[in-house]
Amino acid sequence: MKIGIIGSGMIGTTLAQRLAKAGHEVKIANSRGPETIELTTLSTGARAVHVSDVAADVEVLITSVPLSRVPDVAPLVRETPAETVIIDTSNYYPVRDGAISELDDGQVESLWVAERLGRPIAKAWNAITAQSFADKAAAAGAADRIAIPVAGDDDKAKKTAMALVEDTGFDAFDAGALADSWRQQPGTPAYCTDLTTTELPDALAAADADRSPRRRDLVFAALTERFGPEDEVSGDWLVRLNRAVY
Ligand SMILES: NC(=O)c1ccc[n+]([C@@H]2O[C@H](COP(=O)([O-])OP(=O)(O)OC[C@H]3O[C@@H](n4cnc5c(N)ncnc54)[C@H](OP(=O)(O)O)[C@@H]3O)[C@@H](O)[C@H]2O)c1
Repeated sequence: MKIGIIGSGMIGTTLAQRLAKAGHEVKIANSRGPETIELTTLSTGARAVHVSDVAADVEVLITSVPLSRVPDVAPLVRETPAETVIIDTSNYYPVRDGAISELDDGQVESLWVAERLGRPIAKAWNAITAQSFADKAAAAGAADRIAIPVAGDDDKAKKTAMALVEDTGFDAFDAGALADSWRQQPGTPAYCTDLTTTELPDALAAADADRSPRRRDLVFAALTERFGPEDEVSGDWLVRLNRAVY
């Protein structure tokens, strides 16, 4: 497929590498220009482009920017033809994304994103840490392959997102409607805990809407207490912390 990726950070980079390796025609852009995109991001065939070109002539557009930047990329998304599938990877952390005063704890972040983008979206790749996403891909059928929940209301968008999740090396699990995607938000048992397809349904069902914002904030507080902004946090440490608190 022809795929555009907005955001060349930790998630966008792995997406570009894996999707290009799987045979897709991938363009990727950030806000600073194609020359600032790392060569390793392009090592499997993705092309760095200017952000104004990333959404042109693609079948799928993936937004992978901080939630507070979603309104900035919305005009690009809105200009794509209606048949372009839009997939978003966002998560909401009140501290990091504090600028979004209109998004409350009780709100479903992907509904907020869909409203801002003015399009149906599929939510995918949000519930895996950047480290596990980069390091723990496995072939289809491999024992203990990690599952990634995919939520959405539009059949075509969800099916496309699920096929692409499989192409990135993870089992795709249909997590239902966008309105239910709070079950895969930070603070829930399915969020960044590296579960398999067998384990994921119970984790999604066990999500507690009242407690998850507090659990999310506890994990964030533990991280900022334990690590400075320049410290590298091991992915396994993060998954263990998430499993303990969520
Ligand atoms: N990190 C994780 O473990 C993780 C896991 C799952 C999901 N997520 C979610 O996935 C999204 C991306 O996360 P990340 O960790 O990859 O973020 P990141 O490393 O901070 O990278 C963000 C990227 O977005 C780009 N960007 C920001 N504003 C832009 C704009 N207006 N136009 C074009 N590009 C823009 C940045 O480009 P410039 O640097 O050029 O501005 C950068 O390449 C976030 O919503 C995050 O919550 C993160």
